[in-house]
Amino acid sequence: MRVRGLRKTYRTFSLREVVAVDHLDLTVPAGGVHAFLGPNGSGKTTTIRMLLGLARPDAGSVHLFGTPVPERLPDVIGRVGAIVENPKFVPGFSGRRNLRLLATAVDVPHTRVEEVLERVGLRDRGVDQFRRYSLGMKQRLAIAATLLKDPDLLIFDEPTNGLDPEGIRDIRATMRGLADEGRTVLVSSHILAEVEQVADTVSVVARGRLVAEGTVAGLLAGEGSARVRVTVADPARAHALLAARGWAVQVDGRTVEVAGAPGPSHVNEALARGEVFADEVVVLRRDLESVFLELTGARPSTVRPDAVAPAGAA
Ligand SMILES: Nc1ncnc2c1ncn2[C@@H]1O[C@H](COP(=O)(O)OP(=O)(O)O)[C@@H](O)[C@H]1O
Ligand SMILES: [Mg+2]
Repeated sequence: MRVRGLRKTYRTFSLREVVAVDHLDLTVPAGGVHAFLGPNGSGKTTTIRMLLGLARPDAGSVHLFGTPVPERLPDVIGRVGAIVENPKFVPGFSGRRNLRLLATAVDVPHTRVEEVLERVGLRDRGVDQFRRYSLGMKQRLAIAATLLKDPDLLIFDEPTNGLDPEGIRDIRATMRGLADEGRTVLVSSHILAEVEQVADTVSVVARGRLVAEGTVAGLLAGEGSARVRVTVADPARAHALLAARGWAVQVDGRTVEVAGAPGPSHVNEALARGEVFADEVVVLRRDLESVFLELTGARPSTVRPDAVAPAGAA
């Protein structure tokens, strides 16, 4: 999936213009789980609605499987399964009967219903009424419904919202399984911790704009702003060598902390060229939640994300 320059504004009742999505670029590699992260109100649902042709962009382009959307949406919509709004199931019908109803509507054999029930771990509960399901089971039934047509791309808008930890684990495991089958899963969330473990790649948005993209590990390492701590015999000389590169340096005894270097190897190299050899080099990992807050909060980001491989975009 490839989104370029996507923009959407809403006009409120008082005719104030709200920019919901602002020149958004999004690259979702084919295969794997891609998290679409951002605080509430950052434009995730609006973006997803535009991906699915449910809202019309003011500007920008969307390609699904290389096909322009919404222009040629009918060509690809059969390969996409999505949960955007709360899916409508009949409360008094069993999970199975609900899915059979949907299967008939999209012309899929009922044998497929059994497959998808199995897939989301609801086969044994298929006879139970929908209204008796836990929130997590309802959400898994919704996922099952999106799988009826055997889609290549799944788009889930905040599927773990309101779920207990066990429900979140179930959804995560289901998404992982779908990705392992070679499908692409785009999952939005405003809580990084809920998707961090399952996401192969992430896009972080704030106020309708992309603020970072890459791998979770890349965001954590914060390439471009690594903090590195070295232990050396001659800290004064190390200080001089590192400061000469324009990096922020703090000395405490024999340890020297460097901020702003492109990476630990650069720090190492700067020292070695000055014939200072580190006894210890430690890359100071940042706490993921603080990275997320920094990226999406008022403070400008210092993180330059690593690039998502553009090859084979879904
Ligand atoms: N139909 C609408 N009319 C007016 N404003 C809207 C509408 N839908 C969303 N917005 C506004 O657009 C912004 C983005 O909303 P949304 O896409 O729902 O964000 P998210 O899904 O990330 O929480 C918010 O400021 C929201 O209030
Ligand atoms: Mg939303």
